[in-house]
Amino acid sequence: MKILIVVGARPNFMKAAPILKAISEFNAARPEWTEEVVPVLVHTGQHYDAQMSDAFFADLELPHPDVFLGAGSGSHAEQTAEVMKRFEPVLANVDPDALVVIGDVNSTLACALVAAKLASRAHGRPLIAHVEAGLRSFDRSMPEEINRILTDQISDVLFVSEKSGIRNLGAEGVPADRVYFVGNTMIDSLHEHEAKAEHSRVLERFGLERGEYVLLTLHRAANVDDRECFLEILDGLSGLAASHRVIFPAHPRTQKQISEHDLEAYFRPRRIDYERWNSGVQMVEPQGYLDFLCLMKNARMVVTDSGGIQEETTALGIPCVTVRDNTERPVTTEIGTNLLAGTRRETIRAVIQRQLAFPGSCAVPEKWDGRAGARIVQILSERLMDHSALAAGLPEAQIPENA
Ligand code: UD1
Repeated sequence: MKILIVVGARPNFMKAAPILKAISEFNAARPEWTEEVVPVLVHTGQHYDAQMSDAFFADLELPHPDVFLGAGSGSHAEQTAEVMKRFEPVLANVDPDALVVIGDVNSTLACALVAAKLASRAHGRPLIAHVEAGLRSFDRSMPEEINRILTDQISDVLFVSEKSGIRNLGAEGVPADRVYFVGNTMIDSLHEHEAKAEHSRVLERFGLERGEYVLLTLHRAANVDDRECFLEILDGLSGLAASHRVIFPAHPRTQKQISEHDLEAYFRPRRIDYERWNSGVQMVEPQGYLDFLCLMKNARMVVTDSGGIQEETTALGIPCVTVRDNTERPVTTEIGTNLLAGTRRETIRAVIQRQLAFPGSCAVPEKWDGRAGARIVQILSERLMDHSALAAGLPEAQIPENA
């Protein structure tokens, strides 16, 4: 039984690792009559450099990809098309029983689309499975929202990380027998690596005290590509930066925009304009998985526009301020660790003040228990067994119940 797993960009790596681990465990524990599950890992190369990709393979102990497509950067159309062109012959050659795509990045949609149009799909092969299905921001100006909606529509099996996903897929007419609420593989990785992250030296490296600093990330095109929007957000953060150390591991997209918009001065950790700014925002390079986990776990608060960090702070019980008008992960705001701040300076300032008073939370969303990867592999193997038994003309009674 061959399962091809696609990773492409930074947020995919920590979501794929638990699935690969669960496959090894499934094989080790498998009863005699089941076929071994053979994983094939394909890296599209959407993220390709040491900080955005290699560091994560090392920290997460991911195996070397079986295939590296090297698609690289470009406009959305160029990147999506390049991944599709390079993935098509690989998929035909590997001929897997199932394809697993993860999250909402361009590589996710590109690979699902190639599989959905493959000639052999007439025989239902490969089964297309989407991990982290059903999340919706209801904001179609986000490229990720388009990727989510389209990937869900062309997938056969939809693995949902929070209950809102079940409702959203139902509302879009996805049949309920395709949808499985399995929990969150990103949180599997967090549980797996939390203890190891405590050994990270990142706090010493930046001279940070536990519980005293704020961790900041910003990379959404809507927030950093336009100079005025970016400045508005920085203005919203100025009070926080005056009272707290703010450490800012900047995504390459953000670094590029800071340089193009001539905003470097805002990230020098000292007062630069006595009238308006007292910036304590310290920009540093993107961090690896374990160092970043250590930074999150020990922060007083996290300010971000990322999707995954909203979930990780919820699992850790750390207050989070999300610099966006919406979230596709409503469970994080229901639990209360996450508050939406919008992108206007006044609302950002107000929400930061509220979250600085947040006492923290121990509540954890349902099924965020470190077992999502195992559930996914169990369900996939059952679906594939059912399919091959039906294809071989076996009566249903002969399909093992706990396959
Ligand atoms: C992508 C995802 C986004 C995710 C984010 C996390 C899509 C549509 N967006 O956005 O959902 O939250 O990743 O990181 O798929 N770059 C490098 N080195 C790299 C990778 C990128 O320098 O290893 C540069 C590129 O040249 C480009 C910029 O970063 O200028 C953006 O990269 P891209 O992959 O297009 O999208 P992200 O903004 O990273």
